[in-house]
Amino acid sequence: MKIAVIGCGYLGAVHAAAMASLGYETIGIDIDEAKIERLRRGEPPFFEPGLPELLRAGVDAGTLRFTADVAEAAGSDVVFVAVGTPQRAGSDAADLTYVDAAIASLLPHLAPGTLVAGKSTVPVGTAQRLAELIAPTGATLAWNPEFLREGFAVEDTLAPDRLVYGVADGDEASVAALDAVYAAILARGTERLVMSFATAELVKVSANAFLATKISFINAMAELSETVGADVTQLADAIGLDARIGRRFLNAGLGFGGGCLPKDIRAFQARATELGHEQTLGFLREVDQINLRRRDRMVELIDGELARVGGDRVALLGLAFKPNSDDVRDSPAIDVARRLQEQGRVVTCYDPEAGETALRSVPTLTIAASVEEAIRGADVLALGTEWQEFRDLDPVAVAAQTEARVIVDGRNTLDAKRWAAAGFKVIGLGRPDTAPASGALASEPSA
Ligand code: UGA
Repeated sequence: MKIAVIGCGYLGAVHAAAMASLGYETIGIDIDEAKIERLRRGEPPFFEPGLPELLRAGVDAGTLRFTADVAEAAGSDVVFVAVGTPQRAGSDAADLTYVDAAIASLLPHLAPGTLVAGKSTVPVGTAQRLAELIAPTGATLAWNPEFLREGFAVEDTLAPDRLVYGVADGDEASVAALDAVYAAILARGTERLVMSFATAELVKVSANAFLATKISFINAMAELSETVGADVTQLADAIGLDARIGRRFLNAGLGFGGGCLPKDIRAFQARATELGHEQTLGFLREVDQINLRRRDRMVELIDGELARVGGDRVALLGLAFKPNSDDVRDSPAIDVARRLQEQGRVVTCYDPEAGETALRSVPTLTIAASVEEAIRGADVLALGTEWQEFRDLDPVAVAAQTEARVIVDGRNTLDAKRWAAAGFKVIGLGRPDTAPASGALASEPSA
């Protein structure tokens, strides 16, 4: 089987490497020549655990190739479209420029028998429109949304929770073609659901809207907890034990960012409004607002602590929108860093992987090469992304390396008691502060 994947970003590069690992002759296509060059060498253009190995294996075996020439998609059995659908400038709606351009460039190379499988996240109604564009070539369209999480992209692609096929009424051939592509995954008992284009498109955006809502729900509880002195982490544990609610995605803190959840809930609302359903998804505006208010709160907490200790130097640990990623698109941590800087604070940041991407996005940032370098001379410490490296920090060692005696934990991820025992005041989001233990091990910084 010959597979083409158009778009070699977080979604497409992983999908292409995964297809090659299943034994298919695969070609990844992207208009970005620099990205193609790197991929040809087997180097991912972004950080994603497990991807370098998968890419190199495919490139070395000769089953995985990359090109900037869309004509090379000709003769493929299945062409996946995995280009980005960012937020449109000056609007909440999705920008379909890349999807439309990919399809337009593909049309001359399509032939009867080829299946075009859309993976990009698109507003409901897009697949039907594209199917009509493709029909004269004799090729067919299916919509096959992707649910991978950055940081677990390889695992989620090769061992997904479910496969969703959106197809035209009675299009058995497309179902059979996708079944053939995913045969190895289906053989492991993975659920596969066949539905209409519209349902498949809605499955994708409603899944992300639900996840965003879950996070904002717990962050709304965090806001209330701050007022009444409750602890949102205990609340999450308690409600999460109800199997109907579940504990996952109930981590209160700085909220959601990234290239998907924020723009997807906005695009979903914009599309619903176009369809005359402004009220139906009106709650997503609140979900967005609650989420953004958590960033304000973090800045406010850091400001408060700087005022208390009479300093203006902040060490911010974590810049990526979540751990195990170097992606800083709409990253809450970056937002916090930028705003503190705008207020004239001296912010030194450190992230295990996202320093470079962060600097590309906000060139004024000061990026340290290590935790040690970031915290040296700081007045207040803050955690913006819950990398394992930060969870593993020894607070006693940290206390010996900085004068700061307070840490604002934007992800409620540190062991507050341990940090307090080492002399730190620990401030979480949605939970009472933990005061430094009296007679703490390291109440005075060492010389
Ligand atoms: C999200 C979805 O989880 C994937 O299923 C989907 O395929 C993907 O978008 C997409 O549409 O492509 P991703 O953006 O990689 O995946 O990140 P998530 O793991 O969903 O995390 C999103 C944000 O929510 C992060 O900033 C994370 O820190 C935050 N989050 C997550 C919380 O604040 N609390 C939680 O409990 C969980």
